[in-house]
Amino acid sequence: MKKKIGMFFGAAFALVTSIDTANAQVKVPENITALMNKYTCSACHRVDARLVGPAYTDVSKKKYTDAKIVELIYKPVPENWPGYPPMAPMTQVPKEDALVLAKYINSLDAKAKK
Ligand code: HEC
Repeated sequence: MKKKIGMFFGAAFALVTSIDTANAQVKVPENITALMNKYTCSACHRVDARLVGPAYTDVSKKKYTDAKIVELIYKPVPENWPGYPPMAPMTQVPKEDALVLAKYINSLDAKAKK
């Protein structure tokens, strides 16, 4: 009997983890992926998973304005993310591109609410 219960939970766990992995493949617009790769954001950030830095979905929950995110890209405030290493200022990102990334990050919060 005990063994059967263990198998049941094992199967349920496998199912949950496989759903999780499927969810991790969020469709990211091509222009956004291109910018994230160009400015190496993708080395440290995933849309919906913690990597070196926080998931963009978690950043979106902070309800920053687009302008505030641009500011944070140029001048990170590590105290906002206890338990993470500090992000290096990314001043090489042109403002218009930083704004595109900021708008995308904020769009994730609206999607999460649906
Ligand atoms: C070398 C790793 C690294 C790279 C590259 C990187 N980040 Fe980060 N990012 C982090 C870490 C770690 C944090 C959390 C600590 C912090 O904010 O300093 C963070 C935090 C953030 C935050 C949240 C700021 C806050 O205060 O809430 C945003 C937005 C962000 N990153 C966007 C970007 C964007 C956009 C890029 C590319 C232009 C980028 N990051 C590149 C590691 C990185």
